[in-house]
Parts: sequence; C-alpha cells; structure tokens
Amino acid sequence: MNARYCILSKARHRIGTIANACPKIPGNNMYIHWEKKLELDNDLIDTQHRILILLCRKLDIAIKTGEPEQRVRWIMVELKKFTEFHFISEENLMHEIGYPGVHEHALIHTELLMQLNTMLAKISRRRESPEDLLYFLNKWLGQHVAHEDLKIAEYARTSDRNPIGKNLYSEYLLSSEANEKPGSRTP
Ligand SMILES: [Fe+2]
Ligand SMILES: [Fe+2]
Repeated sequence: MNARYCILSKARHRIGTIANACPKIPGNNMYIHWEKKLELDNDLIDTQHRILILLCRKLDIAIKTGEPEQRVRWIMVELKKFTEFHFISEENLMHEIGYPGVHEHALIHTELLMQLNTMLAKISRRRESPEDLLYFLNKWLGQHVAHEDLKIAEYARTSDRNPIGKNLYSEYLLSSEANEKPGSRTP
C-alpha cells in the first residue's frame, strides 16, 4: 500500500467512525447552530465556520418552509461551493503556518467533498433528499470542527509562522470578542 492510499484509508476510516459515533438526531429541528463551543479562537476559521453553519440553517429553513425545489437546489450549490472554498482556505492556512498534519487533514476534506458530490448526485436522482444532506453536513461539521479543525487553531497559536495577511484580520474579520454580547465576558 503506498503512503497516499494509506493516509486516504485512514481518513475514510475516521469519517466512518465519526458517522457511526453520531446517533441520528431525533425530530427535525435540532440541527447544528453556532455556539460558543464551536469557536476555535481563530478569526479566519471561525468566520468561515459561521457562514457554513448559516448556510446549513438557511437550507433547513428553505426545506421546512416549502421553498420551491429549484431554490432549495441553489442553496445546496451555495453550500457546496462555500465548503470547497472553506477547505482550500483552511488548507492554505495550514501550509502558511507550517502545520504538520496538513496532508492528512486535506485528505479528510477531499473525502468529504467526494461524499458531498455523491450525495448531491443522488438527490438529483431522488435517491436521497435535501434533509439527508443537511443531516450528513451537520453531523460531519460538528465533529470535524471540534476535533480536526481545533488542532489547526491550537497549532496556529503556538507557531512562529503567521498566515499571510494576518495583520488584516482585525480590519476584515469579525472577531469572537467583537461578537460577544455586552456583559458576557468576565473581567
Ligand atoms: Fe478542516
Ligand atoms: Fe473547517
């Protein structure tokens, strides 16, 4: 087995484990939402994760309010494109800070995109539903952020290499501090 296949197998195994570890969410209104525990204290990643979760919520609302099929389909495209963007952005960040696990992490992203594309193809053939996609993304996102992305954020805090443009973050990104409600921070 060559090294690349070996890493991909590990990534597959990890995704399978994550999927099995997450029990099916009961009911139809308990999907992921942004909460403090998902914050990684990295403004670039946190901002993009917020948008990903916003798009999941948007898809959820569109399904529940009975938006036309075409509109739901375009939201799924929006979600897919933003997921692709986020993965490339996160991979660039890992390269820029010299994160040692970049290749394994990128393979996990690749695997997710393959699963996402398979799911979208099945939805277009009506073999899966948009709810299935939402369920899959919510489950995957929560686990991936809490375990894999957290490692990047932790490494970024101790690395002596800053990502390109980090000095611009405060100008262009919403920081977690700026998003805290007044009085929620202990002195
Ligand atoms: Fe990631
Ligand atoms: Fe991420």
